[in-house]
Amino acid sequence: MRRFTLFPNASSVGLTNHPQSNLKPCWPSARCCNPCAAKSSRNYTAQVAACAAAGRRQTAERTAVRLPDLPATYKRLVAHRCGPSFRQVTVVQELPLQPPGPGEVLIRITHAGINGGCETFRARGEHAFAPNRAMQDFPLGAEGSGLVVALGPDAGGGLQLGQRVAVNGAAAFSEFVVARPSLVTPLVEGVGCAEGAALVLSGVTACAALEATARVRPGEVVAVTAAAGGTGHLAVQLAAAAGATVVGIVGGGTANKKAEAVAALGAHHVIDRTSQDVASELARLFPGGVDVVYDGVGGALRDQLLGCLGPTGRLLQVGYISEYPHTQAYRWDQRDGGDGDDGGGDGGREGGGGCPGNVALDEAEVPAASTAAAAAAAASTAPTAAPTSALPPSEQLFWGGVDVSLGQRRVIGQIWPKDLKAILRCRRRVFDLAARGQLRVLTDQGHGRKGVEGVADAVDYMLRGEHVGKVIIEI
Ligand SMILES: NC(=O)c1ccc[n+]([C@@H]2O[C@H](COP(=O)([O-])OP(=O)(O)OC[C@H]3O[C@@H](n4cnc5c(N)ncnc54)[C@H](OP(=O)(O)O)[C@@H]3O)[C@@H](O)[C@H]2O)c1
Repeated sequence: MRRFTLFPNASSVGLTNHPQSNLKPCWPSARCCNPCAAKSSRNYTAQVAACAAAGRRQTAERTAVRLPDLPATYKRLVAHRCGPSFRQVTVVQELPLQPPGPGEVLIRITHAGINGGCETFRARGEHAFAPNRAMQDFPLGAEGSGLVVALGPDAGGGLQLGQRVAVNGAAAFSEFVVARPSLVTPLVEGVGCAEGAALVLSGVTACAALEATARVRPGEVVAVTAAAGGTGHLAVQLAAAAGATVVGIVGGGTANKKAEAVAALGAHHVIDRTSQDVASELARLFPGGVDVVYDGVGGALRDQLLGCLGPTGRLLQVGYISEYPHTQAYRWDQRDGGDGDDGGGDGGREGGGGCPGNVALDEAEVPAASTAAAAAAAASTAPTAAPTSALPPSEQLFWGGVDVSLGQRRVIGQIWPKDLKAILRCRRRVFDLAARGQLRVLTDQGHGRKGVEGVADAVDYMLRGEHVGKVIIEI
């Protein structure tokens, strides 16, 4: 195993400035020098510029180059082996810091996003993550952001040392990650690291589903479930920006707070699913039906919303969190008394479309999971009219990436477009909109924890569903 020697003769945690520049240490532990931590400081731009300039100089070298003062070791959260809940399987490891390999960059993660489902499915080894059952000490975390601190030989993508970036598909519950540039999005001024971590998966998901797949048109009616949540609050805004009339559906013990937030983001109507009858409220507001449903909740709510679809309506099955085995223990409005940690999971149903957000956004790389899901979708999009009662369970639609036609209405399990260029466009679009102040990114760190040791608490906090915006943890 290669050890990450900081500089020739440096034997301990780096206290040495970079030998080839006068650059002051630009390292997250030195908060004053961390553009992410010091975003509001007047030195922010100068710091980023200094880091970038150093990056440009150093990229010319053919070997890995890095910022000074990198530690010799770092901490990351791994699943020791698969098990019933995220908390039960995770352990913190301390490992030697390795340099990035050819074509890779090393990122000091400052913020990670807490994903509604993907992470716990990964920890449980279910569906696309079934191979994890044969693994030990596998990393976790689907979305994050931070600073580029080292560039491997031939690392492309125009990335520079000191650059603030968001990254998806990497093991973001870690102080450092190595990533391919195709998974990395540079953050421009106006988009903070916490916001970047929220956009890189939750924002791209909303854009891909609504704009690339459902192709929302002006004048359509779009209903968004979990509308105050990580992906939902971004979907509300993207649908409104497309000229749709937006209905945000919220719930949980903080529905009022959520309703206010969703209205402020541009929703034309807000329905509290815990105190109002969603179907009759939608029927009252829109007797002709709803054109598009962006649904991450699934279960009984999805079934109600199906009945509200207009004649050519489409329901995007973005997730089905109310049915996830690991959510059952957390909710105050728990319906079916599941214990959440029974280890029974989904009865061994495995395979399917993968965690759809974890696509390598690189046209050269079509990930196996995406391909499988696209193939499943292609095989299943034949216009076979089926009665609503014949609709496959949310789980099957989602993981199989299956589309079902109900007459002219469609239930879309594969919300990701097959064309990776379309996903890339969405990625650019959400970051551009956020940078221009046209997409507000709400983040929530109400769990009060920091560092990889706090991630399980942050996951519990997200699953309680009291938050507004994307649940983020500072690493
Ligand atoms: N396809 C993809 O690539 C992709 C990417 C990101 C997220 N997702 C999916 O989108 C959905 C939302 O994920 P997120 O990360 O943005 O989370 P989130 O919306 O920030 O949090 C989950 C929300 O779901 C709602 N919910 C309803 N019933 C629930 C239950 N039984 N347990 C827990 N929450 C419940 C809650 O909002 P209310 O109480 O207000 O209803 C809660 O705030 C999930 O299904 C997730 O898997 C999919």
